[in-house]
This record gives sequence, C-alpha cells and structure tokens, in this order.
Amino acid sequence: MRKLLLATALLSASALSAAAQESVEVLHWWTSGGEAAALNVLKKDLEGQGVSWTDMPVAGGGGEQAMTVLRARVTAGNPPTAVQMLGFDITDWASQGALADLNDIAAAEGWDKVVPEALQKFSKYDGKWVAAPVNVHSTNWVWANKKIFDELGIAQPTSWDELVAALDKIKAAGYTAVAHGGQPWQDATIFDAIVLSFGGDFYKKALIDLDPEALGSDTMKQAFDRLAKIRTYVDDNFSGRDWNLASAMVIQDKAGVQFMGDWAKGEFLNAGKKPGQDFLCFRFPGTQGSVTFNSDQFALFKVGEAQRSAQEKLAKAIMNPTFQSAFNVVKGSVPARTDVPDTAFDDCGKKGIKDLAEASASGHLYGSMAHGHAEPAAIKNAIYDVVTAAFNGQYDSAAAVKELVSAVEAAK
Ligand code: GAL
Repeated sequence: MRKLLLATALLSASALSAAAQESVEVLHWWTSGGEAAALNVLKKDLEGQGVSWTDMPVAGGGGEQAMTVLRARVTAGNPPTAVQMLGFDITDWASQGALADLNDIAAAEGWDKVVPEALQKFSKYDGKWVAAPVNVHSTNWVWANKKIFDELGIAQPTSWDELVAALDKIKAAGYTAVAHGGQPWQDATIFDAIVLSFGGDFYKKALIDLDPEALGSDTMKQAFDRLAKIRTYVDDNFSGRDWNLASAMVIQDKAGVQFMGDWAKGEFLNAGKKPGQDFLCFRFPGTQGSVTFNSDQFALFKVGEAQRSAQEKLAKAIMNPTFQSAFNVVKGSVPARTDVPDTAFDDCGKKGIKDLAEASASGHLYGSMAHGHAEPAAIKNAIYDVVTAAFNGQYDSAAAVKELVSAVEAAK
C-alpha cells in the first residue's frame, strides 16, 4: 500500500513537472487595478493547470500602444502566444495569415452554439476560429457618485436635457461634473454615446454604414454641439489623463460622473465600492434600450508545436463557463457565452447581461466605433482625429461635420 502511494505521488509529481514546463506569453493592456485583478483570475486558472504565465503588459486603454508593440513582435518573427485584441484588429491579423486555426477545439467544445453571432463575426475568419472571446463590454454607460447625487437631490437623468441639468447642479456645487481623460479613445467613447443618443438607426447609418448623408447631417452637427457642451464640464487637468484616474475622481467624491465602458466598474469594485450604495450605473441618457459593445478576445498566434498544447489550454480556459463568470464579475463586463448564469453578478452586471440580451433580440446592439467594433483601424483613427480636435475646440460643430465627412472619405 505504502509503495503504491509513493508510486502515485512520484507519478503525479513528474506529471506536474512536465506540465509546469508549459507556458504562455500573453500581450495585453490590462494594467489598471481592476483590470489586473480580473486578469489574475485567468493567470491563476492556468497556473492551476500547470501552465506558467509570462506577462507582456503594454499600458494604454483602448490598446493602441499594445497593437504597436505587437506589430514589432510579429515583424521580428516572435509573436506572443496570445494577444488581447478588439474587433477589426483580429480580422486584420487573420487576413495576414498570422493566427492559429482553433476549429478543432471550437468543435470539440461547442463554441458555435454558445457564442453570439455578433462576436463570432470577429472570432472567426474565413470559417476558422482564430480568437477566444473572454467578455462583452458595453460602452454607453454612466458611472455616477451616489453621495453627490443624493446630496444635490439629483435623480438619474434619462434624457439629454436632464443630463445637462444634473451636470449644471454638480458643477455649481463645486465638484468636477464630468471626470474625463483627454485621450482620443476616451473622447471617442463619449462621442459614440452621444451619436447613439440620437437613435440606433442614426448611429448605424453614421458610424457603421458610414453613410455620407448621415455623417454630414444636421443631426451630426447637433452631436458635435453636445460634445462641445460636455467639454464645459471637465476639469482643467483632463488632457492626457488615464481613464482609471478619471474613475478615481468619481470614486473619491471629487467628480459627479464618468462616461465610460463597464471596465470602469472594475475600478469601483477594486476600491471596495458597492453598486447602488456608493455608485450608480445607468445608460447614457437617451440610449436606453440600445447597447454599443466591444468584446475583448484573445487572438491566438501561430506558434511552434512546442507551445501548441499550452495555447490550447489557454483557449479552453478562456471559454470555460465557470471561468467566464468568475472573470467577468471582477472585470465589469458580461460573459461572451450566452449559457452563463447571472447569479454571481451584482446589479450592474445583471443589468448589463439583460440589456445586452434585449438589445441583441430587438436589433439594437451595435459595434462600438471607439473600440474597434464598427470600423477597421484606419477609419476609426480618422474619426478619432476629428472627434478629438472638436473636443479640444479646434473646430466648431459645422466645421467638425465637414472634417468628419472628408476624413472618412479619405480613409475608406
Ligand atoms: C478597452 C478594453 C477593456 C478595457 C479598456 C480600458 O479597449 O476592451 O477591456 O481594458 O480598454 O483599458
């Protein structure tokens, strides 16, 4: 008996050390407190399976810097095992033949049945799975400081006019009304929400279909007017600020609201704040019923045979329903699978899951332009340039509309 136990122990020790040699290198931009906490759930999961994790963080929300580093790595012939990636960037890399074929695992694990069509559009290229989606974020949210709202008797605004009235009150009371970081992707996140507040049809025509009439319309001019109005509510130091530092202003009772995707919730939770008690989450006024989304996916690069098994374990771990619940509860996003129960999620998470399902069913789910799910990078960046210049007062609204039409035309 003793001998048998010893033999089993030796066997499992050697199995473990063989497995411990497996490793993955993962490039990502999850460097804020909340993001790092969520990523840790994945690291721990893999380490539990004997796969070690080499971290390749490239700070910068929205992932632009990460994509620059990635290009250098691939050009040098040394791609990481997996890379956090958004929407059309996945399609770009897949079209260059850089991504692995995950069809065997996808078929064995039944991914086709549980991942919504809107995500599969990016997870697959030419009929092959090339990326594993870890979440769905929605971007048309407001994160509000409950103490400030209560102190000033502000009810949750549901229209643009109510939002303006609320922000005026917050500003008059001496707080920063809107916590914002002046970086192109953050400016564009607000712009997305404003465009959506003129209706899903308008959002789709303008930012997904790139209809020149919608881009050049009077409604678009009104959208730029709203953007300029929001600019009057930010503090003097907004320029270049990281998004998580803007979240911290709301968390620390210095600012009233932040317009940001639900990764902001990860920061509130990481700071020990509770939804409904310390902060409120609601849809950008006028966008109720619609959702703009982005999905973080891990694109799996073509790697040597030696790394293949670890890569497959990573893909399977990402798609595991129990993991998707645990990870997204911390990250602020919702699962990328439709079969994960909402039981472990807080009220904002439950609302996120419900809103997403309803928007998808009613045809009001749209890819976020700001987050690479409406247009490829060249067009997205052309729109960013105009939006950021307009936000900083370089163009008035009429000029911004003209610039938008010509920038999009040139980038197409
Ligand atoms: C988004 C990404 C989110 C979050 C955010 C800020 O692009 O989808 O997961 O990380 O950037 O870093």
